[in-house]
Amino acid sequence: MKNILVTGGAGFIGGNFIYYSRKKHPECRIVCMDCLTYAGNIKTLEPLMNSESFRFVKVDITDRENVFKIFEEENFDAVINFAAESHVDRSIKDPSVFLTTNILGTQVLLDAVNQFGVKRFHQVSTDEVYGDLPLDRPDLFFTETTPLHTSSPYSASKAAADLLCLAYHRTYKTPVTISRCSNNYGPYQFPEKLIPLMFVNASSDKPLPVYGKGANVRDWLFVDDHCKAIDMIVRDGVVGEIYNIGGHNEKTNLEVVKTILKTLSKDESLITYVNDRPGHDMRYAIDPQKICDELGWYPETKFEDGIAYTLRWYKENEPWWRAILDGSYRK
Ligand code: NAD
Ligand code: DAU
Repeated sequence: MKNILVTGGAGFIGGNFIYYSRKKHPECRIVCMDCLTYAGNIKTLEPLMNSESFRFVKVDITDRENVFKIFEEENFDAVINFAAESHVDRSIKDPSVFLTTNILGTQVLLDAVNQFGVKRFHQVSTDEVYGDLPLDRPDLFFTETTPLHTSSPYSASKAAADLLCLAYHRTYKTPVTISRCSNNYGPYQFPEKLIPLMFVNASSDKPLPVYGKGANVRDWLFVDDHCKAIDMIVRDGVVGEIYNIGGHNEKTNLEVVKTILKTLSKDESLITYVNDRPGHDMRYAIDPQKICDELGWYPETKFEDGIAYTLRWYKENEPWWRAILDGSYRK
């Protein structure tokens, strides 16, 4: 793999993946394609901008003409698609852009992969395509064969993209792999998602809005462990296969919020219970046995260490998130 395309690399996981890859495979050139929506932050990639083995192109993945132009110029060995609208609450307010980017954008990339004979297309998907699990059945986990059962326009759009990838594999022999990961946390996450939002609010002694009773369970994974899994799948995964990624680290939202407050020495009275998210998934829990057995993947970061590191990162990188809060990051 000498030249890879990372879409959505100005976002949270794509940005972390670029840094992970450059450390692990310094010989590899990376092109980042991102149209810089509100979730994209060019500051995240600023240290790389003068590197000869890195190129940033401001292109929308739904823009067929410009996507094909970049493929023609670059001769990619692999394409890893992180670009997406990713926030469930926004998808509930306005689903349209989720369907356009997440489904049609994926189709444009798949067409380009076919046209230019790229050897691997990896689709970064989510555990949300499986719907949710009940709280009173801790014995149940999502496996790769769990039926798709989506709850939000976001998860429906991600499931549609997964099906499109599998259909392209079957019909055109497109060399696709798919990964479905649980909730990530770590540096560079946009402060609309639970952990960075709670950090930012707690830091300014603002209320922490917990949906419903805070009893919903998420299966948290440190972002570098996700990046490691994707890197392994792209290099050694079997074409046409789906891999679940998760570290058996289930926590209620209230547990996570209280951990943040404790680490920041803030009072629990900041917790404010607000109206629940419509259609709110109760519990996500991944069974990662397949990727562990077949590719030797395992999560390296314990939640206690990962959350302490992440909160420290947000403390030390206040200009990064302040620029988002005041809107200056978009200039
Ligand atoms: P993010 O919202 O932080 O970043 C998305 C990036 O994609 C942004 O830089 C944005 O500018 C870019 N983008 C959006 N629409 C685009 C378009 N039309 N053309 C080009 N670029 C576009 O998202 P994230 O949390 O980093 O998630 C990355 C991927 O991982 C998504 O596909 C998401 O579904 C998946 N995922 C996320 C999580 C999680 O916990 N965050 C877990 C599992 C899977
Ligand atoms: O599981 C993987 C998914 O994780 C990814 O596919 C999504 O892209 C990513 O956004 C994330 O989805 P969630 O909806 O689980 O993440 P979010 O951070 O929005 O919310 C986490 C939990 O916290 C969820 O149960 C809702 C709750 N929540 C969230 C916010 C923003 C609150 O209670 N209050 C809040 O203000």
